[in-house]
Amino acid sequence: MSDRIPVILDCDPGHDDMVALVLALGSDRLDVKAITNVAGNKAMEKVNRNTLNILNWCGVEKEVAAGAVRPLVRPYNRTDTDGCHGLTGLDGFDFPADNPLKLSKRRAIEVMADVVRHSPKPVTLITTGPTTNVGLFLRAFPDLIPNIARISMMAGTCHFILTEPFMEFNAYLDAEATRIIFESGVPITMFGYDVTYSVLFRQDFTQRLLATGTRTGLMMQKLLDEFTVLHNKRWIDLGGCPVHDACAVAGVIDPTIVTRSEKMYVRIQTEPGPLSGATICDYQHRSGMEPNAEVVFAMDNQRFFDMVVESAAKLK
Ligand code: RIB
Ligand code: CA
Repeated sequence: MSDRIPVILDCDPGHDDMVALVLALGSDRLDVKAITNVAGNKAMEKVNRNTLNILNWCGVEKEVAAGAVRPLVRPYNRTDTDGCHGLTGLDGFDFPADNPLKLSKRRAIEVMADVVRHSPKPVTLITTGPTTNVGLFLRAFPDLIPNIARISMMAGTCHFILTEPFMEFNAYLDAEATRIIFESGVPITMFGYDVTYSVLFRQDFTQRLLATGTRTGLMMQKLLDEFTVLHNKRWIDLGGCPVHDACAVAGVIDPTIVTRSEKMYVRIQTEPGPLSGATICDYQHRSGMEPNAEVVFAMDNQRFFDMVVESAAKLK
């Protein structure tokens, strides 16, 4: 365990969060200290249940702590039909009703503080949901910031437009928390839509997961085939489907998987208006502001898929 990278995964499962969890838990490069949940794709209770179901199915036990049940300031009014993850947040696979795993009695930022305070090595925070927990953590425990190695985020977008320019769900749902993070001085690697929509999986990939012969591979194949239908119907059909969140994990496991990125200043728009919540990326370096993030534009797709299959093969 000594040479592994200590990480905390903050997530809102969600199909692509599920891939991020499997990738992290099956990697021998990461030491997943804890998993924290944030309200995002679905409300807290569903996100908690989905996380515990994934762990139970994959045969992994980790502390899972509930966190913020809504953004710091903005309302949280997601309905059950919002988004592209179905009613449960993990439509496409029926998990066993009986699950012995239980939520931690501690809340997310308590766990983050405990892990970061006592880790002998700086901890990497990986966020794959709205940024509320990490924003809150940075505000509540500023003295622990020096022991945070990096925040690897699935958040934001530079050029890729899914709905409106510069808008991405994890960044805009809690723009104030995202702004806290980008103004914190902590090193940030931003895996936004530019890279996540350039790494699309197709049926041949999900068949590779099934071919691992593990329960985990079976679950992933069923969930991702369903996610493809849900995502392409709700958003855009590019002939494949993104696995947004897993990109932020892959970049921690092996930073060399990133084939194109650029350091730049990213401003988070929190003022009211149509672009409130936008990640305004200064890719032409006109602002005169110091870069505060490494924005990723491309990854080695094949290595990414191989990495995910390798992790799926290692779990139950
Ligand atoms: O915009 C994509 C992000 O929003 C992903 O993390 C997905 O799980 C949803 O949370
Ligand atoms: Ca997510």
